[in-house]
Amino acid sequence: MTKRVAIIGAGPSGLSQLHAFQSAANKGINIPHIVCYEKQSAWGGLWNYTWRTGVDEHGNNCHGSMYKNLWSNGPKEGLEYADYTFEQHFKKAIPSYLPRPVLLDYINGRAEKAGIGKYIRFNTNVRDVRYNVVKAKFTVTARDCLKDKEFVEDYDHVIVASGHFSMPNVPYYDGFEHFSGRILHAHDFRDAREFEGQDILIVGSSYSAEDIGSQCWKYGSKTVTISYRNNPIGYDWPPNFSELPTLLFVKDGKAYFKNGQSKKIDAIILCTGYKHYFSFLPDDLRLKTENRLATSDLYKGTVFNPNSAMFYLGMQDQWYTFNMFDAQAWYVRDIILGKIVVPDERLRVLDIAARQKAEERLEDSLAGIFYQGAYVSELINETDCPRFEIGMTNRAFIEYVGHKKEGIMTFRDQCFKSAITKRLAPMHHTRWTEAMDVSLESYLAK
Ligand SMILES: Cc1cc2nc3c(=O)[nH]c(=O)nc-3n(C[C@H](O)[C@H](O)[C@H](O)COP(=O)(O)OP(=O)(O)OC[C@H]3O[C@@H](n4cnc5c(N)ncnc54)[C@H](O)[C@@H]3O)c2cc1C
Ligand SMILES: NC(=O)c1ccc[n+]([C@@H]2O[C@H](COP(=O)([O-])OP(=O)(O)OC[C@H]3O[C@@H](n4cnc5c(N)ncnc54)[C@H](OP(=O)(O)O)[C@@H]3O)[C@@H](O)[C@H]2O)c1
Repeated sequence: MTKRVAIIGAGPSGLSQLHAFQSAANKGINIPHIVCYEKQSAWGGLWNYTWRTGVDEHGNNCHGSMYKNLWSNGPKEGLEYADYTFEQHFKKAIPSYLPRPVLLDYINGRAEKAGIGKYIRFNTNVRDVRYNVVKAKFTVTARDCLKDKEFVEDYDHVIVASGHFSMPNVPYYDGFEHFSGRILHAHDFRDAREFEGQDILIVGSSYSAEDIGSQCWKYGSKTVTISYRNNPIGYDWPPNFSELPTLLFVKDGKAYFKNGQSKKIDAIILCTGYKHYFSFLPDDLRLKTENRLATSDLYKGTVFNPNSAMFYLGMQDQWYTFNMFDAQAWYVRDIILGKIVVPDERLRVLDIAARQKAEERLEDSLAGIFYQGAYVSELINETDCPRFEIGMTNRAFIEYVGHKKEGIMTFRDQCFKSAITKRLAPMHHTRWTEAMDVSLESYLAK
């Protein structure tokens, strides 16, 4: 009997899984019956911009966390698909940093070329998954939100590819309830122009903080103040940018900080990260992990240890993204196809513990690049996943971190060599600080 596999989510991770199965089918291998459930009306996951916040058009949690004028925060050479290069897609060499619509176009191109849309049920929200030990089957309950109809179907395997940067972590600070300006989480940030001319307070000191702060600066906020909990970001910020320690409370339109300073503010943007959140999963199937490189409970970062018929993709903290999702997807595919044997639970536990210990021994965040590169390489070497030069990609990430230290507002003007074509990307026609129009047309012009 043909196995049945459910994939939850058609973002970059879920699409990688479909590519992996399709590439096996193209080689004449019998693949399982596959259904990919996607609650949005299109694939691409977070890369689908939505103006909505809160709930989507069907009343489900709005998935989108991206904003209108977002650019990739790493060079495209760090995530390029080894079997579908940027040059192949755009029919010309393009710069290293891309606005969101350009990256989405690339994702679309690969998916369309492979013809994997046939596996996806759009506008279909997975509401529940249960495992029946006797039948050794998962029962997936999903709602087709357009037809307003519920489906209940059984599967041999479930692959969760629902992402982990969508459910905001929202802390409370004294005085929030009396503040009359906007308080929002990065998840709901859509357009920096909303904050033009305003004094903005950003809470948090990681990627969202630095990028949303930079966006607000670029689109005309009067001042940007970043409040860090542990360490400042420490870049050489423009003059109207500052970093202050922990926020204590907010009162009468002013924010008060741990070092005794205070500052008038108009709006507060909480860039305080996200939670791994799976409302559709019961306790026994739900992954519980920190946002880290070596996740808890996932053997080789993919196989759910308490139930090895279930898999998770893309649940790690991410240096590597699209190319890591491919490596994971090919690995999971080969387990399902019976080409790779998963060891027993005792060995899986040892593997997970060893990976976490190795991560804890890393000297700094830069070492994390090599750690994740080695992980991607390990998975790729076990399958026929398309290969790329991981040493080159590691070096690109290291250089990119250096570029950010040299100039947080200029690092996106740098060019990198592709780890696949080995060609150097051209300069963009406009510097990032002046490139206000993020459309595909504007980007590809000239
Ligand atoms: C603001 C922001 C900017 C980022 N920028 C970059 C960047 O520049 N470069 C980079 O490489 N990475 C970036 N990332 C990281 C991002 O996580 C990955 O690029 C990528 O989108 C992860 O893909 P994914 O498929 O794992 O998850 P997602 O992209 O989140 O996709 C998950 C999919 O699952 C669907 N889904 C969720 N729940 C259900 C359900 N119950 N039923 C059906 N479908 C469901 C969602 O609708 C979505 O389509 C960024 C993340 C954020 C938040
Ligand atoms: N342009 C882009 O491409 C772009 C833009 C934004 C985000 N992203 C991506 O989005 C992902 C998530 O990044 P993120 O920055 O949102 O999350 P993150 O990296 O998990 O960082 C969360 C931040 O919130 C802080 N924090 C958590 N709880 C807090 C609290 N109670 N009070 C104060 N601070 C608190 C943390 O502080 P500590 O450090 O003190 O723990 C940390 O600085 C990353 O993969 C990133 O690459 C990309």
